[in-house]
Amino acid sequence: MKKTILITGSTDGIGKLTAIKLAKEGHEVFIHGRNAEKLETVISEIKSISNNEAIKGFTADLSTIASVKKLAETIKNEIPKIDILINNAGVYKSKLTNNQNGLDLRFVVNYLAPYVLTNELISIVNSKVINLSSAAQAPVSLDALVGKNAISEQVAYAQSKLALTMWSFYLAKKQSKVNIIAVNPGSLLNTNMVKEAFGTHWSSVDKGADILCELATDDRHENATGVYFDNDKGTYGNAHSDAYDEDKIEKLIEQTEHILANL
Ligand SMILES: NC(=O)c1ccc[n+]([C@@H]2O[C@H](COP(=O)([O-])OP(=O)(O)OC[C@H]3O[C@@H](n4cnc5c(N)ncnc54)[C@H](OP(=O)(O)O)[C@@H]3O)[C@@H](O)[C@H]2O)c1
Repeated sequence: MKKTILITGSTDGIGKLTAIKLAKEGHEVFIHGRNAEKLETVISEIKSISNNEAIKGFTADLSTIASVKKLAETIKNEIPKIDILINNAGVYKSKLTNNQNGLDLRFVVNYLAPYVLTNELISIVNSKVINLSSAAQAPVSLDALVGKNAISEQVAYAQSKLALTMWSFYLAKKQSKVNIIAVNPGSLLNTNMVKEAFGTHWSSVDKGADILCELATDDRHENATGVYFDNDKGTYGNAHSDAYDEDKIEKLIEQTEHILANL
């Protein structure tokens, strides 16, 4: 069945290839990027590769929460319903460490942005949210999250991905309308992020895009919620132990709400 699918960060890497593959299958695909010109180029490219005209896009820089909220408003004004939301946009290395609110960019783009976007859109999401986690997960410092401690890019990235995974499990329990899956798409896939961070790769981008397409559309995953798919192993598996720690999750959500309330 044809689905309406929104993929953040789909102007490059795993998100773009996922959008191409889903467009080829005939789905209605909404892409998103931070650069309007690049977004338009990618929309034309996807239409031409897939012979699918049902491709539209949204521009927003996810490094500020104000911009995430504006994006959600625009989306709600233009799309009556989304079957699947894929929170894929992510950052590892960046020119600036912090955003204008003093928050580490990795925490904002990789965790707070999908948190806010999903909460704002959940009323129009029909079936599933897929959150891009990673094999890199490290215990979240609530001080670092609020911008008190400076930590390295690598540590902030791993903390942001565990925060995203902990929240994914929380959201899956909190409501039953929408299924929530966290996924490690596979480690060191050949994308700009990986080239900039590591200068080498282990696998092709297809590995990540294929699993996102499968999780989004294959009936085998229809009822999966509150789970972590580990594509290094090709199966559902265990996230970091903190993702199953109710007390730590509660403190994370409390701190997250505190940050968002004070922006
Ligand atoms: N590649 C891997 O091996 C791997 C492994 C585990 C998890 N992941 C996760 O998979 C997701 C996709 O990563 P990727 O490897 O495909 O990276 P990528 O090639 O660098 O693509 C990242 C996408 O996010 C967008 N983006 C980055 N910062 C943004 C911002 N501030 N506002 C809006 N959009 C922004 C980028 O836009 P531009 O096109 O403008 O750059 C791009 O479309 C990320 O969440 C990443 O953490 C990747």
